[in-house]
Amino acid sequence: MAEKLSPQAKGGGYKTIVFVVCTVAALGGLLFGLDQGFIANSLETLTRHYQFTVHGKESYSAILATGGVLGALLSGVFARFLGRKKSLLLAGFIFTAASAFSALLPPIAVLSACRFALGFAVGMASFVVPLYLSETAPAAIRGSMGTLFQLMITIGIFLISVSNVYIARTFVEPTTALALMFLTITFFAALMFGGGFMLPESPRWLMLKGRKEEAIGVLRRTLNTREEIDTEIGEIEEALHGPQGAGVEIVFRGYFFKVLLVGVLLQMFQQLVGINVMIYYAPTIFGYAGMKGIVAMMTVPTVNMLFTFPAIVLVEKWGRKKLLYVGAAFMLATMVAAGLAFQSIGGATDAAAIGDAPKTVLLIAVIFYIFGFAVSWGPVVWLVCSEIFPLEGREVGMTITTMVNWTFAGLVMANALTFMQTFGNASIFYLFSGFCVVAIVFVAAFVPETRGITLEEMEFNLKKGTRLRELGKRR
Ligand code: BGC
Repeated sequence: MAEKLSPQAKGGGYKTIVFVVCTVAALGGLLFGLDQGFIANSLETLTRHYQFTVHGKESYSAILATGGVLGALLSGVFARFLGRKKSLLLAGFIFTAASAFSALLPPIAVLSACRFALGFAVGMASFVVPLYLSETAPAAIRGSMGTLFQLMITIGIFLISVSNVYIARTFVEPTTALALMFLTITFFAALMFGGGFMLPESPRWLMLKGRKEEAIGVLRRTLNTREEIDTEIGEIEEALHGPQGAGVEIVFRGYFFKVLLVGVLLQMFQQLVGINVMIYYAPTIFGYAGMKGIVAMMTVPTVNMLFTFPAIVLVEKWGRKKLLYVGAAFMLATMVAAGLAFQSIGGATDAAAIGDAPKTVLLIAVIFYIFGFAVSWGPVVWLVCSEIFPLEGREVGMTITTMVNWTFAGLVMANALTFMQTFGNASIFYLFSGFCVVAIVFVAAFVPETRGITLEEMEFNLKKGTRLRELGKRR
């Protein structure tokens, strides 16, 4: 190797390019959040402009998830054949084009197609961004980069809530307000797309394609010393000689199928506890209880973002399972409380006829519910899904579990408001609390604790036939 390192690059500190890598990739997480959080405080404006019915609101919200399923499905193929960088650029381009097109306020069919495309980009980003980061960020900061992605999602949800509230209050005319709401997302999407050109390709992907010299060139830009570069190249070569990514037929291997079921059910329950009903429809639901204004609009995104911070520490301190129990218990109790609050409201729709007590109970219940999710099921499920699969099936496992997440997100979003209309407002909260009970039983019976064990040890246990619940026990 004949690389020359600049004198200031030796030892300590990270090069500017490392910050560029982290920032651009973080924008991928932010866009996920911006699109996910967009609906809550724009639904009223959207309805005024497009005359949405309840069903129309649900369909427009949920079509993001349909795109997400497809994006997650194809992202593995794109990442493998196009490369990580070009896949990120493609996601950035789709984000930018679809949000800019939406800002033109096209007919509803085109607007929905744009939201489908946004979902496709979100699905792609949710697979490619963590993959790119884990392959390109220096080893010492890889762990924190993984959690950064989840944090950026909640920051995105928060930011778009603030800006949509601000826009809706400043511009009364729905046409102007809506265009500005979409332009806000376009701005961040363009940043990601433009910034994407500055990214280096993932050195691991380059090595996979036999382009070693280019891989070394990238590492020279991101790492400081020749020893670091040699170690990294050595590790990549070793990994490339190990088991390679299997195809979908791996799901028929018994040990893989078992662990896949754990991931699939975790993602299913993450959605069936009802989180996205709160993320998408909290202002609408508070409205049913006669509550409007800033508290109804900002409580969920604010609590959601704030309590993702402690999760980052607790996930290592308490372990994954304890957090899942605590979170589900909080969500169970608070959903029952929210159900009772709505039951006491009965059929009243006039804000003045609804007493303060049920409103207060509902508000406190929602705050603690979001706390319960943000500190546990939000980050932990994604984390566990990235840990439980054996190396050769990690891509397949993560693709399938991500698709399950989006499928159930879509199902819940597409039916929640109609369910409330059909069976009464309280009913859906009791349903969610029921899913919390089943989720707790499932965690106790089948989910392994994955803290403090290496992925290789867990893989050894899995292939030896260890029971799922005990996979995380050290040999
Ligand atoms: C979930 C999303 C949800 C978000 C809220 C994520 O973990 O998968 O569906 O909208 O958390 O913060």
